[in-house]
Amino acid sequence: MRKAMITGITGQDGSYLAEFLLGKGYEVHGIVRRTSSLNRSRIDHLRSYEQGPAPRLILHYGDLGNSAALVKLLYELRPDEVYNLAAQSHVRISFDIPDYTIDVTGTGVSRILEAVIQSGIGRAVRFYQASSSEMFGKVQEVPQRESTPFWPRSPYACAKAMAHWLTVNYREAYNLFACSGILFNHESPRRGENFVTRKISIGAACIKAGLQDKLSLGNLDAKRDWGYAKEYVEAMWLMLQQDKPGDYVIATNETHTVRDFLEAAFGRLGLDWRRHVEFDEHYLRPTEVDLLIGDYSKAKRELGWEPQTRMKALAELMADADYRLTKAGRLCPFGKPEESGFGNIESICDSGSPGARAAQLDSVPR
Ligand code: NAP
Ligand code: GDD
Repeated sequence: MRKAMITGITGQDGSYLAEFLLGKGYEVHGIVRRTSSLNRSRIDHLRSYEQGPAPRLILHYGDLGNSAALVKLLYELRPDEVYNLAAQSHVRISFDIPDYTIDVTGTGVSRILEAVIQSGIGRAVRFYQASSSEMFGKVQEVPQRESTPFWPRSPYACAKAMAHWLTVNYREAYNLFACSGILFNHESPRRGENFVTRKISIGAACIKAGLQDKLSLGNLDAKRDWGYAKEYVEAMWLMLQQDKPGDYVIATNETHTVRDFLEAAFGRLGLDWRRHVEFDEHYLRPTEVDLLIGDYSKAKRELGWEPQTRMKALAELMADADYRLTKAGRLCPFGKPEESGFGNIESICDSGSPGARAAQLDSVPR
């Protein structure tokens, strides 16, 4: 049985990737960090894989700040594939906590790559690094491709650029099978609530349900290439199945403004966003990335990967999912989701009452 290790398994992408790999028959080892309250709602629905005599989902405590634990885990587990998805991933917040962001999102990658070497697994493992279109920043070419020069515009993007080059360097220096996936923005009903798409879908749902009337946002002119996270995790896996390691842009090759996303999400719920959205300068960034649009032709040619879901359909599926949550009483006013089962939105909406779900959470020790 093939064995994969995922850092960042509790995040949006980690949860979809875990599902995808379990579906392919992998044994999946997820690294979780210690938090004062459990923070695993996006993978709660996978709990059955953790149980029984031969579990296929196994969680381990670890942190990208802790080299020794990474070496030990890699030495003991000897995974076939490592997906490094862990990061402080919020761009604006990286201006508030730059050292921390650089330590986790940048230096953390040096720690895990070095752990691959120190654990002795080296060439035996295939390594995926979650790189970002934010590295293109003040874009030097439109659309952006693998060879487009980087001009990072935030501490987060600087850290990701360092991590990208470390991945390339370890590939060249130690002949590691190390790939850098340069993913453009990808979203889903599991997206963190403080990224703009999810803020919009939650806001629209709560306004529609009469729970709030206003939604505060920053720059509505920024253009992003938004795809569906569930489809992007397959591209990560495909990169690690090739004969040779490489770097790939994953995108939709379409770009839309935040305004367009508002139009699609609010429109889906029969709302006019102009009546509800107000400007708050708090959400502006000291330096902004104005335009992202990716050229995924290398991924199409070499991986056979293509996006299926475009911005409008994505905004609609997110608005639908959050509206179902509000109707089930699971989204509070001001867009603050309740704790229980938050990440498992697709299945919560189809089954189980909030109370039953909360009880289920309480009854299983973790
Ligand atoms: P996310 O939802 O913010 O998830 C980040 C994950 O990293 C969470 O599981 C988080 O754990 C974990 N983490 C944070 N700090 C850690 C640390 N010190 N040690 C170990 N784990 C830590 O991010 P995402 O949207 O799934 O993105 C996955 C990766 O792709 C990230 O590296 C992100 O920067 C990158 N990326 C994302 C996009 C996008 O549009 N989504 C685009 C390009 C690249 P907790 O749950 O405990 O916080
Ligand atoms: N978060 C947020 N909140 N963004 C807002 C808001 C708001 O209230 N109002 C406007 N925006 C604008 C931002 O200024 C930015 O131009 C755009 O919406 C997208 O912001 P985010 O959704 O926070 O995403 P991001 O593009 O900064 O970063 C995401 O994508 C990167 C890939 O390009 C993150 O997922 C990164 O981790 C990822 O690497």
